[in-house]
Amino acid sequence: MKFTFYGHSCFAIETGGKKLLFDPFISGNELAKDIDINKIEVDFILVSHGHGDHIADLVPIARRTGAKVIAAYEIVTWVGAQGIENVHPMNFGSANFDFGKLHFLPAAHSSSLPDGTYGGNPGGFLVHGIEHKFYYSGDTCLTMDMQLVQRYAKLDFAILPVGGNFTMDADDAIMATDFIQCNKIIGVHFDTFGYIKINHQEAVDKFKAAGKELILPKIGETITL
Ligand code: NI
Ligand code: MN
Repeated sequence: MKFTFYGHSCFAIETGGKKLLFDPFISGNELAKDIDINKIEVDFILVSHGHGDHIADLVPIARRTGAKVIAAYEIVTWVGAQGIENVHPMNFGSANFDFGKLHFLPAAHSSSLPDGTYGGNPGGFLVHGIEHKFYYSGDTCLTMDMQLVQRYAKLDFAILPVGGNFTMDADDAIMATDFIQCNKIIGVHFDTFGYIKINHQEAVDKFKAAGKELILPKIGETITL
């Protein structure tokens, strides 16, 4: 399975012969200026919530690629009004796709769209892929609800925010690894803005001291998991 990082909380995962893109926010990210959004090929786009730093490039990428957009009903309605027809609305629950079963699970955050439209509930995704099972929490603080994840699936890895301020920081993410029973974490939602700049070595060392692994991917980097 391949994980490609596009900066902030935007990444692509190839699983079961399908390419999934999460939380497309690239062109507005100064740190990701070397990424060309017109070169990203994708079959599905999964959106955790409506904030601009997760959705800014959603409509252009969906329009060009024809990828199916999976998101909260309210977000799907919003992109539908912009002419995107290949959509799958969800709320908290599960559904089956070509790449496997997908749970949309609660995040403790907020969700409004860039024009102020209500974005429904913010969430995270648990992907029961054909090859691997993984969890992306979306923007959230640490919540007890995360303990449900390990009842649903034995994870191969998880993607968690580690930047703090708007989400979990590294310390909270380490507690989350116990809740979800997964010790291999890819950190996202760090460094993009002043509020979420982190000391990489300190975060990695904290995970190591807890007997866990934190990968902080470089923008544009593809990791084979
Ligand atoms: Ni957010
Ligand atoms: Mn965010």
